[in-house]
Amino acid sequence: MSLSGYKQFIEPNDTVILYLCNNLHAVLVQEKIRNKNGILVENVYQTPFGALKVKDLIGVQYGSKVELSKGWGHVIQPTPELWTLCLPHRTQIIYSPDISMILCQLDLIPGKVVVEAGTGSGSLTHAFIRCVKPKGFVFTFDFHPQRAQFAQKEFELHGVDQFVSVKCRDVLTCGFGEELNSQADAVFLDLPKPWLGISWAKHAIRYDKEVMT
Ligand SMILES: C[S@@+](CC[C@H](N)C(=O)[O-])C[C@H]1O[C@@H](n2cnc3c(N)ncnc32)[C@H](O)[C@@H]1O
Repeated sequence: MSLSGYKQFIEPNDTVILYLCNNLHAVLVQEKIRNKNGILVENVYQTPFGALKVKDLIGVQYGSKVELSKGWGHVIQPTPELWTLCLPHRTQIIYSPDISMILCQLDLIPGKVVVEAGTGSGSLTHAFIRCVKPKGFVFTFDFHPQRAQFAQKEFELHGVDQFVSVKCRDVLTCGFGEELNSQADAVFLDLPKPWLGISWAKHAIRYDKEVMT
């Protein structure tokens, strides 16, 4: 399943996975980009198989073969699994085999509410979002401001920002906020000293009354 829903043809601002002989590249479809001097120039994506004029992707059908200056590749819609394989690493990330186990052990299905810290590079967050949307929600926290900002920007570009809130906070010191008390179906901590977050996680978890009695 794609990140935000299937579409047939590539549109401006899509994130496209360029598949090149076992290499995956995430390409943001923008006709122009700023160069080192801040000047808007034509967006030409360089690969081991030559250059790709990114504007030429607009209107191309997903799944198609595309010509590069010294070879060819295929353009694919992103999924959380493909995104995990080519996202820009800002931290260590969790990969799909472990993500599958995490989703399963947390009993996540559409409609569930998940609290996550830290956001890191957003690899796990993308999988959480796909799993719980459209009626569920992901609250993700990271105490590193740039990581939180990058993640927010990516969720917007991927059209999934309505299913996730990104907050910059040290969750081991400050917790997840009173507004999340008894709201979460699952809390997942991928950060140093996670045991310090357990008491905060207990506040956030929603307990089923029948299970409690
Ligand atoms: C290993 S990365 C998480 C990777 C993420 N699970 C992924 O798959 O992309 C750990 C993140 O936790 C954040 N972090 C560490 N301690 C934290 C704390 N006390 N509160 C919030 N975030 C924290 C770090 O800034 C870092 O981005």
